[in-house]
Amino acid sequence: MGRALKILFTTSELYPLVKTGGLADVAQGLTEALHELGTDVRLCLPAYRSVLDKLAPPHQLAQFHIEGCRFPVRLLLTRLPGEDLPLYLVDIPEYFDRVGGPYGTAEGDDWPDNPARFAAFCRVCAALAQGRLDPDWQPEVVHSNDWQTALVPALLALEPRRPACVFTIHNLAYQGRFPAETFSRLALPAPLWAPDGLEFYGDLSFIKGGLLFADWLTTVSPTYAQEIQTPQFGYGLDPILRWRRERLVGILNGVDYRQWDPRRDPFIPAHYGPDDLSGKAKDKAALCRQFHLEGDPESPVAAFIGRLVEQKGVDLILDALPTLLEAGLRLVILGTGDAGLEQRVRRAAEAHPGRVAAHLGYSEPLAHLMEAGADLFLMPSRFEPCGLNQIYSLRYGTVPVVHRTGGLADSVVDATEATLAHGSATGFQFHPATPEALIEAVSRALILYPHRQRWQTLMQQGMRQDFSWQRAAAHYLALYRRALGG
Ligand code: ADP
Ligand code: GLC
Repeated sequence: MGRALKILFTTSELYPLVKTGGLADVAQGLTEALHELGTDVRLCLPAYRSVLDKLAPPHQLAQFHIEGCRFPVRLLLTRLPGEDLPLYLVDIPEYFDRVGGPYGTAEGDDWPDNPARFAAFCRVCAALAQGRLDPDWQPEVVHSNDWQTALVPALLALEPRRPACVFTIHNLAYQGRFPAETFSRLALPAPLWAPDGLEFYGDLSFIKGGLLFADWLTTVSPTYAQEIQTPQFGYGLDPILRWRRERLVGILNGVDYRQWDPRRDPFIPAHYGPDDLSGKAKDKAALCRQFHLEGDPESPVAAFIGRLVEQKGVDLILDALPTLLEAGLRLVILGTGDAGLEQRVRRAAEAHPGRVAAHLGYSEPLAHLMEAGADLFLMPSRFEPCGLNQIYSLRYGTVPVVHRTGGLADSVVDATEATLAHGSATGFQFHPATPEALIEAVSRALILYPHRQRWQTLMQQGMRQDFSWQRAAAHYLALYRRALGG
């Protein structure tokens, strides 16, 4: 075996330490799979208070000051619990040691100093990448993710020698766009203020740092890689993405079946698998008890899990609700997010006790119970770079009904006469993202549902799909080697 490739993976979220969405799962699952492929991959994360609280006191590697930040910085080194991966933590207590989420308050307001927080984090990542902070280790590849770490490739572009840079877009809707004066307040290097730099229509754009300066761009599904090159999904950045299309690839995320498999999921009362589905009925009964759902135990239950934001299309479900209920569906919703959407979900549950239930909060145990206990999983996202829950649903035999976009289009095979006959169908797709189209797809599902044998075949076909990280990690590894000119 050759020398292990050294990779620094910079991220603002990391499961199981800090998570608001799929980025946390990807940071853990991908790096673990890269490690299994024999690379020397290390992670770098801000030392949020919630992270330090979960860890034994980490080793201090260095204490220093960086440009643009008046607070002292400490670089800590520990290991990701449960995995064998080295984890660098950037400790700037004034920025990261506070109560609340990684990006904002518990009430959902962004931290006003987010530009300063993540610019400082990026500067430390860049210094680490240049071998200036850990005398024993320098990466050959730096892999950054989303706007919070997008300044890393931009800062490294100013260096005469630097590691190869890969930047992954997990969601182009979040760009890290701030008023122009932020640029000078952060004392960012002057050459970066240009239309072919971080300036974006007179504002400062963090994400442009990744899009312009990384050697390779990736996003988390092949379809989303195409979509973001269009004005509809590009939010004004599509011209850059078209310009860089030769260096843009879509790699569908994997999922971590150690955590998401009904054969061994510790959160569910009964285990099951494609060869013996019997446990699923028990999990459905437990789900119904948990959410006080009433009615015929055989009648179908649909689930929705996700951030309650416009992207996820939960409003389409609420608009379609009267028709869906009339068709005999019961519904459970788990999510947090916009106050307005939370209110609508709460009202729907109050209006239909025993038929519609919701938990407005973040709960891993409930997410697992819902994946196991429901019959259908609704994912009407207006756009979805990859999406993980539809892939979890496949493994749990919880047939996904998805809007045909991004990673949803790439991971679910629509049940048509042909795909059902051929045995390749795994779920239901619809388009466009309207309540009517959603209703049409759910109706197709409900027509098939009573045909138990055919329905079970559809479930089993989904359960046998393999979206494990090995495939995606091999793709990334090949890309790193290409970026290094190998
Ligand atoms: P996104 O990253 O856009 O939020 P993904 O589908 O990639 O969407 O990932 C969402 C992840 O967050 C999944 O692992 C999902 O189970 C989890 N999740 C989202 N909301 C909740 C919640 N309220 N409770 C528990 N898990 C949640
Ligand atoms: C983003 C996207 C989601 C994707 C996740 C992980 O949060 O919204 O679709 O699965 O990142 O890549």
